[in-house]
Amino acid sequence: MNEYKPVHPTQRLEAIWKRGTEFLGSDLPIMCGAMTWISDPQLVSVMSNHGAFGALAAGNMPPEMFAEAVDRTFEMTDRPFAGNVITIAPNYLDHLDILCEKKVSHIIFAGSLPRGSEVKKAKESGAKVLCFASTASIAKRMISYGADGLILEGSEAGGHIGHVSTIVLLQEILFQFPEIPIFVAGGIASGKMIAHLTLMGAAGAQMGTRFVLAQECGAHEKFKEVFIKARAREAISTPQYSAKLPVVSVRALNNHAMTHFGELQLDLLEKLRVGELNRTDAQFKVEEYWVGSLRNAAVDGDVEHGSLMAGQSVGMLQQVQPLRTILEELVADADQAVAEVRARLAG
Ligand SMILES: Cc1cc2nc3c(=O)[nH]c(=O)nc-3n(C[C@H](O)[C@H](O)[C@H](O)COP(=O)(O)O)c2cc1C
Repeated sequence: MNEYKPVHPTQRLEAIWKRGTEFLGSDLPIMCGAMTWISDPQLVSVMSNHGAFGALAAGNMPPEMFAEAVDRTFEMTDRPFAGNVITIAPNYLDHLDILCEKKVSHIIFAGSLPRGSEVKKAKESGAKVLCFASTASIAKRMISYGADGLILEGSEAGGHIGHVSTIVLLQEILFQFPEIPIFVAGGIASGKMIAHLTLMGAAGAQMGTRFVLAQECGAHEKFKEVFIKARAREAISTPQYSAKLPVVSVRALNNHAMTHFGELQLDLLEKLRVGELNRTDAQFKVEEYWVGSLRNAAVDGDVEHGSLMAGQSVGMLQQVQPLRTILEELVADADQAVAEVRARLAG
């Protein structure tokens, strides 16, 4: 089942990375964040088999399809991986049931906030629970619900994002909650950055954008080609036009999908004004738009009209590489950073 040899940390990194690797049950404290349509059993199992950690995206899959994906992942790896459920997805509670029944070792709650009872249910299945925390008060609430770990994701990240940058969240959350393992996401593409984050107290890092360019990632070739050419400033975030229709910002490369989203918002606002739609239905249409549009680009390769969700770290990426090479590069780069810090401290 496990035809890959895991990539190990260097001796210098082992102690610094221990908290994260013990939490994940992996060799490296490096997570591939779940990406709807992209984080399938192949990418997840390859990540975990190489000693890192994969997260299977439930997105808004029909429950039977998600159950199959979980089974398939178990067939492809005997190492731990996570299931990532989106609390605002229509089948969210079914997705959660599936992960609990199938005893997936880690459950990540994404989207909006999970209820305390849902976190409890996940923990009772034996899973370790990770929750996103975008503010200190949310971090406190998730810890009070029993979260075992937190993901702090800055607005540099690709996909649906919060309002605050990684560097501010590090101070607001990472430095304030040393009692819980925290994985940092958003804008990370180098081992050097992972080394410095873990020296600051992070348990590890979660990346999405960089792993899109793993050879083993099933995203469409054209989607990958656009990533290679893109600059950081082309990964822009969507605005909200009116408080009458609250929308979560999405960071993606600028193309027709972004322009069309502006038109969709205006159209939905008009439908809200004349009473043709209520707010919940309008917000549902927004989410439906993103899921469909990401599929068009990432699966079908329509990079003009589909959504090219990507983080600002896209500007640092230059090529498609085998996952093993990416992980080896991250480890070597992190090791060098720690050696440099040690030398500096030694004076
Ligand atoms: C194409 C794409 C799709 C994503 N879909 C999801 C998702 O379904 N669930 C989730 O929790 N995060 C999702 N994310 C966020 C990633 O899991 C990860 O946290 C993020 O990419 C980290 O920031 P980075 O892009 O700067 O590496 C997505 C990101 C991208 C780029």
